[in-house]
Amino acid sequence: MITLPHHCEFLSDAWLQETKNFLEREVAVRKDRLTGSFSVSERFGDAPPHMKFADNVAAWRMRFDGETVSVSRDFDDRVDQIVEGDYQAALTAAQCVGILAPGATEAMLRDVAAMFGKDAIRVKGKLEDGQAREIMALLHDHMGRRTVENPDLAHRAARQGLSGKIREMEEQGFTILEHAIAPEFADEVRAATLRALLPHQSVSMNWMLYHGREFERLVQNPLLMTLIDASLGRGAVIASLSSIKRGPGPGFIPMHTDYAHVPEPYPEFALTGVGVWALEDWRVESGPTWLVPGSHKMRRPPRPGEGHNGAVPIEMPKGSVVFFTHGVWHWQGDRTEPGDRITLHMHFNRGILRSLEPKKVDVQMLHRNAPRLGEMLGEDDWFDKMSASGRDHVRFAYMQQLLAFNEQQKKQILAGAA
Ligand SMILES: [Fe+2]
Repeated sequence: MITLPHHCEFLSDAWLQETKNFLEREVAVRKDRLTGSFSVSERFGDAPPHMKFADNVAAWRMRFDGETVSVSRDFDDRVDQIVEGDYQAALTAAQCVGILAPGATEAMLRDVAAMFGKDAIRVKGKLEDGQAREIMALLHDHMGRRTVENPDLAHRAARQGLSGKIREMEEQGFTILEHAIAPEFADEVRAATLRALLPHQSVSMNWMLYHGREFERLVQNPLLMTLIDASLGRGAVIASLSSIKRGPGPGFIPMHTDYAHVPEPYPEFALTGVGVWALEDWRVESGPTWLVPGSHKMRRPPRPGEGHNGAVPIEMPKGSVVFFTHGVWHWQGDRTEPGDRITLHMHFNRGILRSLEPKKVDVQMLHRNAPRLGEMLGEDDWFDKMSASGRDHVRFAYMQQLLAFNEQQKKQILAGAA
């Protein structure tokens, strides 16, 4: 397992041990309020091979008999509630924190269904006791803030249906994920963006992460994260998270690359990448981003007055994201239809680079999210850290291993083996 000491992989031995510790503690505290026994068992197929489960099936079971709680590694169908499905889908749900908030569980299941299909996670039976349900929801949160994303990029991309997208991204310098979020969530993000903007900030505003849960959830979108991991490596950090609101008229961002101050030739590996979320349908008339496929292979910015061959407008439905990277050439199109185009621009940098926005690390924000959010705020690497005993060698060693595993699996994807 490759994790920091305070994190774990979903359903690993460390995960099971922490689950046991939590349940023993909570059940002891709440015993008087529990009305009787309860039990849950879960089983998920297609777990990543590095976890070495028999037939790649990960399972566990908990049972409270009215006196004591037991936790074990086996699957048991004689329980009150059974949860089954795909490991990667379940891991996506497992990384949601705050599921007791109104509507949060429904939103989690809706998001997972949008990514993996409606039967990716199946629940049978239920816990009758409200106190038991609350303990299990709190367990979900407790483990969610410790559970890392699947570090096997090739396995994860395959389960998410993104292996081909990653190959396309390398070839063209960009790729589009259609319907990466449910349309309802796109509407929520659009409303939250408008809520955050003041009239004088109508063109663009930064630091959008700090304006509500919608942005914290969106920035961790697991599909976009997989593209970012494939392009920028693990430990990529938020360079900026900005919104743009624009009405009809000519585009105001001319053709450019996002490689400010990077000398030519650009490196063969990507330094920076941007995911732009469409919160309405994007057509040519909407004034979408235009990209020049393959222009990243020139490894330089456009020269003054230089034209562009074969540029394409990014047309995609609401709730989609285009991710462009590697110094590909792009610009903002003209908008000929009425109304405003609202977009969120998630600009990430390879972890070794400085960011545009200073990071504001808020302990409460970290507490209400999975480790993935901390990773993009630089919490998991050794940069900007120092203790009395010196550099953070634990984080250095962790990130070194994670980067190497990620890179090895990316090679598999590009070779078409995954
Ligand atoms: Fe740009």
